[in-house]
Amino acid sequence: MKKITEHIYYVGVNDRNKSLFEGLWPLPAGVSYNAYLIDDEKTCLIDTVEVDFFMPFIENIREVLGERPLNYIVVNHMEPDHSGSLALLRKYYPEVQIVGNKKTFDMMRGFYQIESGLQEVKNGDTLALGSQQLQFVLTPMVHWPETMMTLCKSVLFSGDAFGCFGALNGAIVDEQMNCDYFWDEMERYYSNIVGKYGTPVQMALKKLAGVKVDYICSTHGPVWHEHVEKVIGIYDRLSRYEAEPGLVICYGTMYGNTERAAEVIATAAAEAGVKNIVMHNVSKTHHSYIIRDVFRYQALIVGAPTYNTGLYHEMNVLLDELSQKDIKGRLLGWFGSYGWASKAVAEIKRWNDERLHYEPVGTPVEIKQALTPETIAQCRALGQAMAARLLS
Ligand code: FEO
Repeated sequence: MKKITEHIYYVGVNDRNKSLFEGLWPLPAGVSYNAYLIDDEKTCLIDTVEVDFFMPFIENIREVLGERPLNYIVVNHMEPDHSGSLALLRKYYPEVQIVGNKKTFDMMRGFYQIESGLQEVKNGDTLALGSQQLQFVLTPMVHWPETMMTLCKSVLFSGDAFGCFGALNGAIVDEQMNCDYFWDEMERYYSNIVGKYGTPVQMALKKLAGVKVDYICSTHGPVWHEHVEKVIGIYDRLSRYEAEPGLVICYGTMYGNTERAAEVIATAAAEAGVKNIVMHNVSKTHHSYIIRDVFRYQALIVGAPTYNTGLYHEMNVLLDELSQKDIKGRLLGWFGSYGWASKAVAEIKRWNDERLHYEPVGTPVEIKQALTPETIAQCRALGQAMAARLLS
């Protein structure tokens, strides 16, 4: 039995089998689906888990409750990694009341055809469990329209917010484990899943300002206790699109010519004083890590070959993904190459003009076939221009 506070138990599960979360995001160290049980005069489950894990989940619940009834299930978020066990739970606990907001119940009807035994709450409503009382904080679009959080005294059940990739290897609460792995994964989770919704995240943080929070119980990753202030700071920084002074250089390459240009640009930027430079081959690094780094650093330089008289496919995909994130306040330089028809440079410019809207820096470099002394000098100038803008 995994106890968090006197009345709160962890009843979640780990998924170390799935390769791609949502079919999109790599899970090198798995992921946890967290759920919590409040044991009081009335018993209350906060969120459920993905339905594939129902059996270990119900065992965790019954380990706490024994034969006692489950009175409430609070649904903070309807995405099926957290709501997937609702219909089966109803078979074990037919009298249970499901607590959510109006948008929660619209989705519940569609996903699970559940229409009865529902208790609708609005922002600020409370629910007494005995010695404990719940208060509901509606936080729409973090990152779905129905998302809400639930407070139980100074324990915040936050849904996906403050969550991260990575299974829980024994311990549940941050102070009982080495959290090093989770910091990068919190940023990757945020950037790729929540990152588009910076303004709603800011509104949620404002609603929580002034609330004393000792524990953050998210639906993925560790329960935060020792690091509450740090994780709120990370969300505040990322949702304001605040970046560190650093440079991401991301390139596509077929035969190494575009990669050599990227190396020249990186060397020039480093010589001009940029210390944080990360480089990614767009075909090798999963885009979720590149997107995380674009959230982290202020400058981006992209380069790719022309392919089929258009932009190299993987770069096209990356720029499309980036444009969906609405990342603000970034600098962009670019370069491209071609063997017989020039298109890549013009296409990257079009992406920026029409969708990305980052601040253009330096003069784009166009490389015909292989680097020449002239294009090497242009690449160096691009790296230097970005360094000057970054360090200004
Ligand atoms: Fe973890 Fe938005 O579901």
